[in-house]
Amino acid sequence: MRRLSLRYPNGMLALRGVDLDVQAGEFLVVLGGNGCGKTTLLRCVTRALTPTEGQVWVDGEDMIQVAGAGLRRLRQRIAMVWQQPSLVRRRSVVTNVACGALARNNTLWTNLGGLPAATLPEALACLGQVALAHLADRRAGTLSGGQAQRVAIARALMQRPAVLLADEPVASLDPEAAHDIMRLLKQLAHQQNLAVLCVLHQVDLALAYADRIVGMRDGMVVLDQPRSELSIDTIQPLYLQRVA
Ligand SMILES: Nc1ncnc2c1ncn2[C@@H]1O[C@H](COP(=O)(O)OP(=O)(O)OP(=O)(O)O)[C@@H](O)[C@H]1O
Ligand SMILES: [Mg+2]
Repeated sequence: MRRLSLRYPNGMLALRGVDLDVQAGEFLVVLGGNGCGKTTLLRCVTRALTPTEGQVWVDGEDMIQVAGAGLRRLRQRIAMVWQQPSLVRRRSVVTNVACGALARNNTLWTNLGGLPAATLPEALACLGQVALAHLADRRAGTLSGGQAQRVAIARALMQRPAVLLADEPVASLDPEAAHDIMRLLKQLAHQQNLAVLCVLHQVDLALAYADRIVGMRDGMVVLDQPRSELSIDTIQPLYLQRVA
């Protein structure tokens, strides 16, 4: 991202010239107080929002400048995981994962009226990557919160992304499940060569798992350093009340 700015229609300037790079194979955590612009940043990267100014480079192309089929292709390279896994509760786990292929080719299912045969083995492989292949046939509604989030990550992998964005993916999880998800995201970054950008509110988890930590405040990046150079003391000021 280069000099990314976003002003909402109500005049709120939520991003002010954000410069940020995420490398393939890197696990980046973004921290910052409520309302500093983290979710807005992710929504600009997926092009759910069109930035007021700036560039978002993916695979050597500026997403802001492309449209039509080119934009669809770049969007497919970026997968997203939210705080809530939002699975279809009455469908099986593997069907939920297979749905991730829709983001890749949404004409496929409408043409064939069902699950293409090749999708199933790939969905099982994605479930294997989150260590849940044994739950493939379970109804998604019967999973624990941590398992459901893993399935949401497997669904995101079905998209065959280059970039995985996660907005507070552990906010609804107990501490053990939260550590599991963080470990998994880091492992996916390193082993699948994914660029992972994860928004968090837990400084301890960021310090435990991130390769690099970015801190935001008032729509700006105010901290961007490798984990090894950071401590709780350098991060804490992000959360101090702004002096008017
Ligand atoms: N649709 C919108 N219209 C106007 N202002 C908005 C809109 N969405 C968000 N904002 C404002 O933009 C700023 C950044 O919001 P954003 O949701 O990106 O923050 P955040 O860092 O994700 O916060 P949180 O940690 O609470 O999730 C906030 O001041 C928010 O009130
Ligand atoms: Mg947010």
